Amino acid sequence: MRYTVTSALPYANGPIHAGHLAGAYLPADIFVRYLRLKGEDVVFICGTDEHGTPITFRALKEGKSPREIVDYYHEHIKTTFERAKISFDYFGRTELPVHYRISQEFFLKALENGYLVKKMEKQAYCEHDKMFLPDRYVIGTCPYCGAEEQRGDQCEVCGHPLTPEKLINPRCNICGGSITFKDSAHYYIKMQEFQARLKEWIEKNEHWKSNVRNTVLGWINEGLEERAITRDLNWGIPVPLDEEDVKGKVLYVWFEAPIGYISITIEHFKRLGEQDKWKKHWLKGYDGETRIIHFIGKDNIPFHAIFWPAFLLSYGEFKDEKGKFDWLLPYDVPANEYLKLEGKKFSTSRNWAIWVHEFLDEFPADYLRYYLTAIMPETRDSDFNFADFKSKINDELVNNLGNFVHRALTFANRYFDGKVPERGELDDLDKEAFEEIERTFKDVSELILNYRFKDALKRVMELSAFGNRYFDYRKPWKTAKTDRARTATTVNVSLQIVKALGIVLEPFLPDASEKIWHLLNLEEVKVWRFRPLKEGHGVRKAEILFRKVEDEQIKNYIIKYFPENAVKDLLRKYFPRDYKELLKGKKEKKKVEEEKTMGYIKFDEFAKVDLRVGKIVEVSDHPNADKLYLVKVNLGDEVRQLVAGLKKYYKPEELLNHYVIVVTNLEPKKLRGVESQGMLLAADDGENVSLLLPDREIKLGARIR
Ligand code: MF3
Ligand code: ZN
Repeated sequence: MRYTVTSALPYANGPIHAGHLAGAYLPADIFVRYLRLKGEDVVFICGTDEHGTPITFRALKEGKSPREIVDYYHEHIKTTFERAKISFDYFGRTELPVHYRISQEFFLKALENGYLVKKMEKQAYCEHDKMFLPDRYVIGTCPYCGAEEQRGDQCEVCGHPLTPEKLINPRCNICGGSITFKDSAHYYIKMQEFQARLKEWIEKNEHWKSNVRNTVLGWINEGLEERAITRDLNWGIPVPLDEEDVKGKVLYVWFEAPIGYISITIEHFKRLGEQDKWKKHWLKGYDGETRIIHFIGKDNIPFHAIFWPAFLLSYGEFKDEKGKFDWLLPYDVPANEYLKLEGKKFSTSRNWAIWVHEFLDEFPADYLRYYLTAIMPETRDSDFNFADFKSKINDELVNNLGNFVHRALTFANRYFDGKVPERGELDDLDKEAFEEIERTFKDVSELILNYRFKDALKRVMELSAFGNRYFDYRKPWKTAKTDRARTATTVNVSLQIVKALGIVLEPFLPDASEKIWHLLNLEEVKVWRFRPLKEGHGVRKAEILFRKVEDEQIKNYIIKYFPENAVKDLLRKYFPRDYKELLKGKKEKKKVEEEKTMGYIKFDEFAKVDLRVGKIVEVSDHPNADKLYLVKVNLGDEVRQLVAGLKKYYKPEELLNHYVIVVTNLEPKKLRGVESQGMLLAADDGENVSLLLPDREIKLGARIR
């Protein structure tokens, strides 16, 4: 079976939070990693969604251009996914030229096939802001469920797709004032024409999660209506027609974004030099069977299960030299529910969120992946909670898994010279261990293929727990003195379980899996099949796989990353005894919050920093601190004394006579009692530090610009 797997294209208008990750990215990644181990032909596609009012609205609020916003967040989001080990084959964007081309082609084909109609209709307009107000520019009350303060594209509470004109008591989301209506010409897709086909298709899809299937059938049974697929907006993909009344208008973002799945696949294979390969992943019967699976959050359901299939149908057949082909409709749209944080909904505007890039600054990716999988909101909303995070990591990851791997390797080294010892006669329990390994592979496969990732991970952990029980029962620390053959079998079997864990963990915890492979000293390519370790094979010394999460880390995380009022509540909840004391230590805070507005500083702000070339002329130990040096730097017309935290990284003689770059207009500051009159620039990757040096002779005091 061939697979095309996608995760919802995130809007390039802000960072990724844990709710996004648990909803649409982590489950897809686990699924894809598993398929790859099985040797299936799979492509995993994602990218940023860069148009529409989510982008323009954010740009407006930040006083930036949409282009600045999307360029910044595209990179930001891409890096965050890499750090979380989400293994897309390609992470593209809807600003790719190929995406413009294909999206316009879809529009023109739908028009040619008679599925589009141009109509002049009243559109929401703000007299104060002098503009049309599409989608998110209008807020009001949802006509379906009565929820207030909903935006004009979709109700966040009941999930129903909306239009600004449908909202009750609508207001302009920019100025808050009342809105008027003005005529504007737009293209509409005649959704009614797809009603019967969609209904039949969805009824047939009995393998869908029942919540998804039922919601969608409900909406379809309400009756589908024409929906505008163009917008009055000056950011997006132009309507590809030369008609006066739609000039300057753009395609609706929810029309073109899903087409991004296709265009990004095309770009991916083009970069690999396999121009036509994308067709196998998107066209029906092009070359064998393919399943398209879209992983999404539940708010995306109507767009993927109703509108998107309709757009694919509206295109009609795709023609090339091999023939005519229909587009494949999605095989499945596994949608997750929502993740909450400490019992409350994630909120970007109130900064009530676990931002993935921040979390990964403090904790390893495997910890985040483990916890989010363990609480994945597969069938109902679930809750991210710090106490729960700590106990799941410490009790399960550290005490169960980490401990077992460590024991097995320690004993192999202590008693068998780091070699896989020979297995003797197997008794029932030993045989049971091998059966347990086989069962784990089988059960985990089945659970993953049914999108039950939470249970699949649990099942993996059961194998590790089995290993611990086996080890405890065999007591190799005792038998080592009395029965060498028995001990050898015990250690052999334990190492086999470790190897199996190294494989079945891969989809969930790729880093831990890699470490296990390293510890077992294996070079073979990992595949989803158990092949026992050979006797006599040398393994490495045991290493700690996971470290415990400490209260201290959680305290610091809360203080550093949460907004004022939230810090108070959280500290009071978790550290009732010393929370007042803790509140004082929040100095770093402000800085972090400023960064959140996008990481940008204005050019003038940057230009204020006075950077100059200097030369180190004296290095001595700081009298009161063992990590610091006192460094004297000649800046041409003056010599300054700096305090620098370089002792761990440089010997004094390595520093002496070296050129450096100095920030010269920092406020002087006392560090452990000695004044520092500036700062040296250095690169810091968390492990190592490297000073920045001019790479040729240059006058002391030269300005860096
Ligand atoms: N950007 C949308 C969201 O974050 C998802 C778009 S998915 C796609 O809700 F299908 F349109 F690409
Ligand atoms: Zn609603």
